[in-house]
Amino acid sequence: MTEQTRQPEYPVNPIFIDRWSPRAFTGETISEQDLLTIIEAGRWAPSAFNAQPWRFIYARAGTPAWDALFATLNAFNQSWAQRASALIVIVSANRSQPPGAAEPKPNGTHEFDTGAAWGYLALQTTLLGWHAHGMTGFDKELARTSLGVPEGYTVQAAVAIGRRSEDKSFLAEALQSREAPSPRLPVKAIAAEGRFGFEG
Ligand SMILES: Cc1cc2nc3c(=O)[nH]c(=O)nc-3n(C[C@H](O)[C@H](O)[C@H](O)COP(=O)(O)O)c2cc1C
Repeated sequence: MTEQTRQPEYPVNPIFIDRWSPRAFTGETISEQDLLTIIEAGRWAPSAFNAQPWRFIYARAGTPAWDALFATLNAFNQSWAQRASALIVIVSANRSQPPGAAEPKPNGTHEFDTGAAWGYLALQTTLLGWHAHGMTGFDKELARTSLGVPEGYTVQAAVAIGRRSEDKSFLAEALQSREAPSPRLPVKAIAAEGRFGFEG
C-alpha cells in the first residue's frame, strides 16, 4: 500500500498498514476454511486470566445462516455489505471464572479482550487476501434475539468480510470517494513518556 495517508513513522510490519476497511467488495464466495482460519486468529488473542470471552457467530453469503445476520445491519451498512462474502457478529461473555474462584465473576476486561480478538481476526483476514470491515451500525437487540444470544453475553460488533473490488460503481457516490485507506494521528499525539500529555 503506497498511499501517502499510510506512511508509518516507525518500521512496523506492512500488515498493519495494509489492513483497512473497504466497502467495495466482489461478492465472491469465501470457503469455510478461509473463514474459520480468520476466526482461528481471533482465538489466539490474549485475555485476562486466559478467560477467552469472545464468541463469533458467522454466516457465509448464500447460506441459510446469512439472512438473519444481514437483517441486523442498518440500511447504510446493508447497502454495501450485501456484496460481502461473510458476516460475523462478535459477542463477549460478561462473566468468567478466575483461577481459584468458586463461581463465575464479572469480567472487567471482556470488552478489552474481545477487541483484541477482533484485531487479530482483521489482520489474518488481510493476510489471506480478504478484508474485514467492522460495524457497530447494526441492531444489537435484534441480533440478540434472532441469533439466540443468551443473557450474560454482550453483543459487541458485526464484521463484514469481503474481497476488495476495484469496481466501486455499485456504491453510493458519497461512498465511492471515501473508498480509500485512512490516515492516523501522529505517534506523539497518542504516546507520551511517563505521564499523560500528548502533542496535537
Ligand atoms: C467497532 C467498529 C465499528 C465500526 N462501525 C462501522 C459501521 O457501522 N459502518 C461502516 O461503514 N464502518 C464502520 N467502521 C469502520 C471504521 O470507520 C474504520 O475502521 C475507521 O474509519 C478506520 O479506517 P480503516 O479501518 O480503513 O483503517 C467501524 C469500525 C470499528 C472498529
